[in-house]
Amino acid sequence: MNILLLGGGGREHALAWKLAQSPLLTRLWCAPGSAAMAALGDCVPLDPCDPAAVAIFARDRSVDLVVIGPEAPLAAGVADAVEAAGVAVFGPSAAAARLETSKTFAKQIADACGAPTARWARFDALAPARAYVTAEGAPIVIKADGLAAGKGVTVAETVEQALAALDAQFDAPGAAVVIEAFMAGEEASLFALCDGTRAIAFGSAQDHKRAFDGDKGPNTGGMGAYAPAPVMTPEVEARAMAGIVAPVLAEMARRGAPYRGVLYAGLMIENDAPRLVEFNARFGDPETQVLMLLLESDLAPLLMAAATGSLDGCAARWRDAAALTVVLAAKGYPGAHARGEEIGGLTAAADPDVVIFHAGTRAEEGRWLSNGGRVLNVSARGATVAEARARAYAAVDKIDWPGGFHRTDIAWRAL
Ligand SMILES: Nc1ncnc2c1ncn2[C@@H]1O[C@H](COP(=O)(O)OP(=O)(O)O)[C@@H](O)[C@H]1O
Ligand SMILES: [Mg+2]
Repeated sequence: MNILLLGGGGREHALAWKLAQSPLLTRLWCAPGSAAMAALGDCVPLDPCDPAAVAIFARDRSVDLVVIGPEAPLAAGVADAVEAAGVAVFGPSAAAARLETSKTFAKQIADACGAPTARWARFDALAPARAYVTAEGAPIVIKADGLAAGKGVTVAETVEQALAALDAQFDAPGAAVVIEAFMAGEEASLFALCDGTRAIAFGSAQDHKRAFDGDKGPNTGGMGAYAPAPVMTPEVEARAMAGIVAPVLAEMARRGAPYRGVLYAGLMIENDAPRLVEFNARFGDPETQVLMLLLESDLAPLLMAAATGSLDGCAARWRDAAALTVVLAAKGYPGAHARGEEIGGLTAAADPDVVIFHAGTRAEEGRWLSNGGRVLNVSARGATVAEARARAYAAVDKIDWPGGFHRTDIAWRAL
C-alpha cells in the first residue's frame, strides 16, 4: 500500500510511526512531514492545504490512500479533491468537516438526531447576545462560531465575565457566537473511525489544555494526554457510540454529506451519561500519540476500510495497558517564544516503552533544534497510568533543553 500522510506535527509523527510498522506498507510519503518523520517516510515539499496539488501528487505517484492529519486541509477541501481524483482518502469532505469548523452546524446536527448536548443559541449581533446572557445567568459558555484553534471559548463563571467575552468577540467584524448552557461533569474524548455509514470505537483519552500545573494559565493546543480515559467505561463508550456517534453519522448521510475519517467527540460525562461538547473532524494532538502507543492492530487497513466504506466486521485491538504523553513546549508558549535552541539528550531518553514524537523540531548537522511552540511529545506506555507517567517523566528528565517547559501533573485526575 502506498500512503501519503498530510501534516508534520506530533500527531502526524505518531501516525507515521504506526503506519511504518504495517507489513502492508510499500511506500510512505509525508507532506510536508518533518525532520523526525524523514526517518519513517519520504518527506515531500507539497502544500497539504492545496487540494489540486495533493490530488495530482496522489494520482501521479499511484498513492492508494491519503491520510489527512490536521484540520486545515479538511476545511480547504483536500479530501474532496483527492476523492474526485479517484484515490481513497481518510478524512471527511469539507461539507462533513463542518462538524468541526462550525459550532452552529454541529449543534444543529446534534439536535436534529437527538444526540444529547447543551442547550444553545446563536447570535450575530452584540445586543441580543448580551440580553440572552443576562436572562440566562451564569455559569454560561461563550464560543466563537468558527475554527478558533482552541482560543474561542470562554467558560464564564459570572454574567460579567460572559458579557466581557461577548464584547471581545464582537470587536471583530462579522463575528458570530454560540452561547451554551454550562454542563457539569468530567471531560473525555472518544474517537470513532467512520466509513460514511458505520462507526467503530477507536479509543478514548483525556488531555490538559491549560499551560501550567493545576490546570492554570492560558489555553494551549494541549500540554499532555493519557489513554484510556478511566471515566470512559465500556458502558459509557457504548452509550456515546449509540446515542451520539451513530445518530450523527446517519444524519450526515441523510443530508448528503457522509462522514468518513475519524470523528473525535469531546464529551462531558456526568453520572455515566455522556453529552456532546464538540466534534473535531480529525485525530487529536497530542491524544493520537498515546492512542498509537496502545494500538495493537495494524493501522493501515483500518484507515483504508474507513476511507472505502468497508468497516463492516472491523474492530481495533488494543494493548491492555495505559499510555501518557508530556508535551515539552518553548518557554512563552502559547505566546511569543524562541526557536532554534539546541535540544540534547534525546537518545539518552530512549527506552522500549518510551517514544519521543517530534511536534516542532528541525535537524541541523546532526543536532535537534526547537522549531515551534509545542516541540516534543515524550510518550510512554505502562501497565497503569501511574507506571506510564513515571516512565514519561523519567525520560523528560534526561532531555536537555533549558528553553523548554512542561507540566509536571499530567493525568492528575486519573491518579
Ligand atoms: N457547554 C459546556 N459546558 C461546560 N464546559 C464547556 C462547554 N462547552 C465547552 N466547554 C469547555 O470549554 C472547552 C473548549 O470548548 P470546545 O467546544 O471544545 O471548543 P474548542 O476546542 O473549539 O476551543 C471544552 O473542552 C470544555 O472544557
Ligand atoms: Mg475542544
